[in-house]
Amino acid sequence: MSSHSFFWFFVLSVSYLAALTSPALLFQGFNWESSEKEGGWYNSLKNLVPDLANAGITHVWLPPPSQSADQHGYMPGRLYDLNASSYGNQDELKQLIDAFHQNRIKCLADIVINHRTAAKQDSRGVWCIFEGGTPDNRLDWGPSFICRNDTEYSDGVGNPDTGEDFEPAPDIDHLNPRVQKELSDWMNWLKSDIGFDGWQFNFVQGYAPNITKIYMNQTSPNFAVGERDEQLSYGEDGKLNPDQDKHRRALVDWVNDAGGAITAFDFTTRGILQAAVEGELWRLMDSKGMPPGLIGLQPGSAVTFIDNHNTGSTQKKSPFPFDKVMQGYAYILTHPGVPSIFYDHFLGLKEEIGKLITIRARNQINEKSSVKILASDSDLYVAEIDHGVIMKIGPKFEVGDLVPPNYRIATSGQDYCVWEKE
Ligand SMILES: *[C@@H]1O[C@H](CO)[C@@H](O)[C@H](O)[C@H]1NC(C)=O
Ligand SMILES: *[C@@H]1O[C@H](CO)[C@@H](O)[C@H](O)[C@H]1NC(C)=O
Ligand SMILES: *[C@@H]1O[C@H](CO)[C@@H](O)[C@H](O)[C@H]1NC(C)=O
Ligand SMILES: *[C@@H]1O[C@H](CO)[C@@H](O)[C@H](O)[C@H]1NC(C)=O
Repeated sequence: MSSHSFFWFFVLSVSYLAALTSPALLFQGFNWESSEKEGGWYNSLKNLVPDLANAGITHVWLPPPSQSADQHGYMPGRLYDLNASSYGNQDELKQLIDAFHQNRIKCLADIVINHRTAAKQDSRGVWCIFEGGTPDNRLDWGPSFICRNDTEYSDGVGNPDTGEDFEPAPDIDHLNPRVQKELSDWMNWLKSDIGFDGWQFNFVQGYAPNITKIYMNQTSPNFAVGERDEQLSYGEDGKLNPDQDKHRRALVDWVNDAGGAITAFDFTTRGILQAAVEGELWRLMDSKGMPPGLIGLQPGSAVTFIDNHNTGSTQKKSPFPFDKVMQGYAYILTHPGVPSIFYDHFLGLKEEIGKLITIRARNQINEKSSVKILASDSDLYVAEIDHGVIMKIGPKFEVGDLVPPNYRIATSGQDYCVWEKE
């Protein structure tokens, strides 16, 4: 082969491979009860891998893997110790990740680094002596590694916190170069030794976005998403304000300040959708005629979702209306952004959700697909996506009464329908 034809062979192979790579579709692989699972969560989830692969899932978000003061993993201490987790031990985790990889699904670790729980008290009687969980002294830190203004734990040596305080545990000083180095090393170990491919960054409002940028730069994840969960704005009547532009712009700023390669959970879309499906579907169009969430502004940076282990599951901090969950999925699985499917919903609604995923894949709807909103009334929302798909949610019209010319029904259910061009 001449170097010239070799070049073209190479270009064609690369574009062929790119065409075969489907757009990302995330799955949250746990709920608030997972840590209680008899026989261990990692072993249990392994049984679901073939179903998830068949459904077209590309990435799974797994729970925080390290030893932790709480059973759910959100108060981690010995970061390198993956044997003391209530979800299972290190070998079981590696076997689970292997099973996902054999089915071409990538695995995201839940990265909890804003705060950390200590192993011992210092001479003041303060819980501020950290242990890494390795024979050498990696991640063995003291009070000088805690943010200076977390005064309950700090000795006054660290830098001030660059974000929100996490009250129940010491906030780590991420401006400390040794913290940056040792946490990056730990995340790279999660990749090289355990098999993780990317990250879900927990509580990212706890430290400045430029810190997330450093960890992104030093660990090069295949995919990463940040959980920046801020209150939406409400009026004096207690109702959600129609305009959440400030909320979604804060997400855009966070993504961009974190380097732009990371995505963010689209809490704006989720909050608006949750209110909209209760007879207020007019909320689903902004003043420019676009979707009102992050997907209407910077869709390539948005991970859309309906519920997670906090909003739904057994915590139910702000559950999506139970009987309208499929309307939610009909929206996120036809709209731009990277959709994320919650474990509980997949278990209960596998067939209906599966049909929507198939339609998304068949029509190559991706994170940057275009949306043209055709109706957004109280009881009806209709949108055209990429000139080949039309969807509606809302109780107005029986499915058969509203068939766009030259379209056929691709799937339908309670108060939702999706049509494809014939
Ligand atoms: C956890 O268990 C694995 C397998 O038995 C072992 O290789 C590893 O060193 C253990 N980790 C810790 C921190 O004890
Ligand atoms: C990151 O931002 C914080 C303020 O939020 C600042 O103190 C710090 O110097 C910045 N660090 C880098 C590496 O830019
Ligand atoms: C420390 O300062 C940061 C930045 O001003 C602030 O967001 C955080 O809540 C403070 N933490 C405490 C424990 O006061
Ligand atoms: C990380 O940042 C350095 C310095 O800005 C840059 O040269 C390098 O290309 C970045 N690496 C990645 C993987 O983004």
